[in-house]
Amino acid sequence: MVAIKKFIKILKDTISSIKDTPNKLLIFEFIFKIMTTLCLVPIMAFLFDFVMKITGYNYITSRNVLQCLQNPKILLILLLILVIFSYALLMEISTLTLFYGHKFENNKVFVRRLFLLSLRQLKKIFKPKNIGLVFYVACLIPIFNFVNVMNYLFSHMEISSYVYRQLLKNPIIMILVLALLCGLVYFVMRYLFVFCFFFLDRKSLSQSYKKSVELSKGREFKIIGCILCANVLYFIFYFLIYAGILAIVTVGAKLFGNQRLALAIFLSVFNISNTTVLWIIASLEMVTNICMIVHMYLRFTKKKKRSYTFVERKDATKRFVVNTKRMMIIIGTIVLVVQVVAMYMVICDGYDLLQVQQTKVTSHRGSSVSAPENSLSSIHAAVEDMADYAEIDVQETKDGIIVLFHDSNTKRITGKKWKIYKKNYEDLLTLDIGKWFSEEFEGERIPTLDEVMKVAKGKIKLNIELKPSGTQKDFEKKVVEVIEENGFEDDCIISSFSYSSLTKIKKMNHNIKTGYILSAVYGNYYDLEYADFFSLEQSFVNEKVVVEIHKRGKEVHVWTVNDKKRMEELAQIGVDSIITDDPVKARNVIYSRKFPIYSRNLLNLIFDY
Ligand code: G3P
Ligand code: MG
Repeated sequence: MVAIKKFIKILKDTISSIKDTPNKLLIFEFIFKIMTTLCLVPIMAFLFDFVMKITGYNYITSRNVLQCLQNPKILLILLLILVIFSYALLMEISTLTLFYGHKFENNKVFVRRLFLLSLRQLKKIFKPKNIGLVFYVACLIPIFNFVNVMNYLFSHMEISSYVYRQLLKNPIIMILVLALLCGLVYFVMRYLFVFCFFFLDRKSLSQSYKKSVELSKGREFKIIGCILCANVLYFIFYFLIYAGILAIVTVGAKLFGNQRLALAIFLSVFNISNTTVLWIIASLEMVTNICMIVHMYLRFTKKKKRSYTFVERKDATKRFVVNTKRMMIIIGTIVLVVQVVAMYMVICDGYDLLQVQQTKVTSHRGSSVSAPENSLSSIHAAVEDMADYAEIDVQETKDGIIVLFHDSNTKRITGKKWKIYKKNYEDLLTLDIGKWFSEEFEGERIPTLDEVMKVAKGKIKLNIELKPSGTQKDFEKKVVEVIEENGFEDDCIISSFSYSSLTKIKKMNHNIKTGYILSAVYGNYYDLEYADFFSLEQSFVNEKVVVEIHKRGKEVHVWTVNDKKRMEELAQIGVDSIITDDPVKARNVIYSRKFPIYSRNLLNLIFDY
């Protein structure tokens, strides 16, 4: 009780003493966070992408995470990422510490002075003898990002619980983790003020460590209590906002007509709002933590905020302004270059950079639960169902037109037994392909590939399955012509049971992505040169197959999956695309995986999917 009272007093004091510059503090923090997010996230994603490629691990799933961590190259890159992240955090901590620890009388030159001060600190940070700071600050990451860490642990229970199980099995790792946790608490109790001594008192690193230990003596519980209370308070705050967003989006989605689609929209809106809230809370948490620690430091050392003295000599001021401008231009240019390169890499097809490696949804034969298969209506339905790809089957008519049709003859769909390759397109147009599905679609005609591309352009990508009759030599050439005429090379992929068809396509246009469809899998097909992906019948897909194919930099697509549980399993082992008759169900399964596991049952309750 006493500890809580003390914490409230410290919190109150901290808030009242940031009152003079709260806007500037927050503006700095938000700008800094935006800049670092825009620069560091692509750099880290690039490094990670790179190491995954050179080590052969294309994907990290719950099953291989511990194995990945044993790879020295992965460990090295992780260490490098940690160092980069720590330096960014150091810059943020040093500036916030100076903000809070100094008094600035003249508001006009406040930002410039602070900038100068921060630059001085930067020089200090990058001195080789202060490299220890990087590891010091790495220990602060879980403390200053408490809400995000907790949120991650709760949202990724399937990864976490697997890792926990592995930890429990291995006593040595468990002891190590426990030691790490104890070490963290010990660290907070003794070394929390190192950065205050280092940045505000300009002590050397070793002196700062010594001074921090001295200052913390006898105040350990107060310090731990304050830090814990502030972060738990933020967590509760986040939880309340989270519940609020959940309630608003749920009510909104309930009022929406189509309940199957409502869940898909709900998940997208929820994910965006949740990420934004987490980002804002992370910034507030950082400011509060630092101000609170500096406040405790000032109180415990009985010091006042340092008054920043600045020699207002004319020439010195001039030089300072020029230097500040130059530094700002240099830093601004670096940030801009990194951002432009990152954007270029994201847009450029060759890089997976920042693309979330998430399972895509391919609607089978158009959206065949909502409309007759391989019809224009089924393409419209696939767009409405928010599928990433529409899979369609194509064949060539006698007069050389590429049309959509699954079976080799028209009996099942139209009642008339006509072979597609033996009929002219005009004859096929007399057939009704919608009536068998429902009265609503009566009068629907066989569409051409060209018509479908005109409908799909910019709305949905196509997985064009070639069904060669074996009698028409130019079938593949004609398909490539339609693709090129419509500028669809980047908007479609081609798949086929016929490897020779894929070979012809690749030789004609190397940029078109090709996939070999297999209904039964024997032997080593992984290295086939003209297949960029494999489309496998679902019963042949397991984690080993996915890992082997990913190792070769190729993708795994799986057909035809309509069962929710199987969809979950496939998304969990990291397949690249699920081909399904029910794209809404697949999308909901995949997107709800991002939804925190503890709330997933609630989703099942609200939306019956
Ligand atoms: O894309 C794979 C899948 O469509 C193959 O089966 O018979 O529906 O074309 P099918
Ligand atoms: Mg097909």
